[in-house]
Amino acid sequence: MTQSKKNTIEPSVSGSRRNFIKDSGLLIAGGAIVGGGLSVAQAAHAYGSDLIKVGLIGCGGRGTGAAVQALNTSGGDVRITAMGDIFANNVQTAYRSIKSEHGDKIDDNKFVGLDAYKDVLASDVDVVILATPPGFRPLHFEKAVEAGKHVFMEKPVAVDAPGVRRVLAAGKLAEKRGLAVQVGLQRHHEFRYKECVAKLHEGAIGDPIFARAYWNAAGVWNRPRRDDQTELEYQLSNWYYFNWLCGDHINEQHIHNIDVINWVMKDHPVEAQGQGGREVRKGSNAGQIFDHHMIEFTYDNGTKMLSQCRHIPGCWSEVTEHVHGTNGYCDVSAAKIFDTKNKLVWESDAKEVSGKGWQQEHHDLFAALRNGQIPNETEYAAISTMTAIFGRMASYSGKVVKWDEAFNSNLSLANVDSLHSFNDIPPLMPNDQGEYEVAVPGRSKVI
Ligand SMILES: NC(=O)c1ccc[n+]([C@@H]2O[C@H](COP(=O)([O-])OP(=O)(O)OC[C@H]3O[C@@H](n4cnc5c(N)ncnc54)[C@H](O)[C@@H]3O)[C@@H](O)[C@H]2O)c1
Repeated sequence: MTQSKKNTIEPSVSGSRRNFIKDSGLLIAGGAIVGGGLSVAQAAHAYGSDLIKVGLIGCGGRGTGAAVQALNTSGGDVRITAMGDIFANNVQTAYRSIKSEHGDKIDDNKFVGLDAYKDVLASDVDVVILATPPGFRPLHFEKAVEAGKHVFMEKPVAVDAPGVRRVLAAGKLAEKRGLAVQVGLQRHHEFRYKECVAKLHEGAIGDPIFARAYWNAAGVWNRPRRDDQTELEYQLSNWYYFNWLCGDHINEQHIHNIDVINWVMKDHPVEAQGQGGREVRKGSNAGQIFDHHMIEFTYDNGTKMLSQCRHIPGCWSEVTEHVHGTNGYCDVSAAKIFDTKNKLVWESDAKEVSGKGWQQEHHDLFAALRNGQIPNETEYAAISTMTAIFGRMASYSGKVVKWDEAFNSNLSLANVDSLHSFNDIPPLMPNDQGEYEVAVPGRSKVI
């Protein structure tokens, strides 16, 4: 089945998206592409062995890990010189944890509150790590680029289509300004994935005709409401369960697997239909996200991707990606290729560094900065984020959704720019029974 597809991204934002995705998954910043798909910006500054100062915005689990991984890189000194979080105890815990691993490579320069990001960006950091819930990513990324900072930002990069477009625009500005942008879709930095996807691009299984992507697991943490919290403070703390902060787990986690299939396909799907709901996610702390989604995505060339994600304990757990082609099958997550008789014909023998892609992506970013190279991963990360949101639109609506209507949707889940204090009214309020709006397929307006 083949659909016609227009280039849906505004020309001013990204021009020839498909060529770009086909080339390397990296933006080309006005210079020659060099090893690893990096590009040299005309005005790029090579740090050499100079000190690189890093700011951390969002000092939770991942932000702390990313800061340590940045400090683990070699080639010159790295220092965490500013940290910001909405919660004082989180910034303090992260500070202690980073200090316990890297002693004196961190300054006691902490900012707290919804505007803490402004203080970190106003400091003289060279690179900023953005690791808050993704609802804040478009705002923080845009302001980081405007402040002239190189960025490492976690996935997903948005929770709605307007956020994706804002990120794409900021990515373009970063490109113009010679600022590096790296995104925590770390499989792109793992040797085994890179080798395997390169094999697929060379035609190792012929033309892809079907793909499968899974993030089926028990679920994630849940942070109960405390009596002393305002409604906004509670939602910010238990952020995973609110779409304006998280985008649902299809966006928050399953993006990794969807992104791998987009990478293999060098494209995004043009159509999606699916289903999902809340089988076990019930009760006062359950927020509004589903606990399962199953989506059938269709790419422009007719290739289908079956995507499943589930947060239900006691079920089949699987976090993998697979591609079936005219001439064989590939377990991409295992970096193995089989012929049409199911005989193993290739397996990667690459060894990852300790910490795998989470560490390697920082080795790659800091090595690039020291060499004056400017990686920019904004576009494929934004398109993969949009693909996950597209899937959510399909399962929430219960309808067949087209890429163009999804990408161009003006449905914004929150105006996070206007939030400055925990006493502000959150974008979403519970009803009298303390329940939050949950999408009802066939009825809810979700695009
Ligand atoms: N690449 C990966 O494999 C991977 C793994 C885990 C998490 N992540 C991503 O990292 C991000 C954070 O996840 P986490 O597990 O660290 O969550 P977390 O809850 O542990 O940390 C988030 C932190 O951000 C802070 N925060 C919230 N809003 C903020 C704001 N407006 N300004 C400043 N700080 C704010 C919170 O207080 C918290 O300390 C998510 O986008 C998640 O998807 C990526």
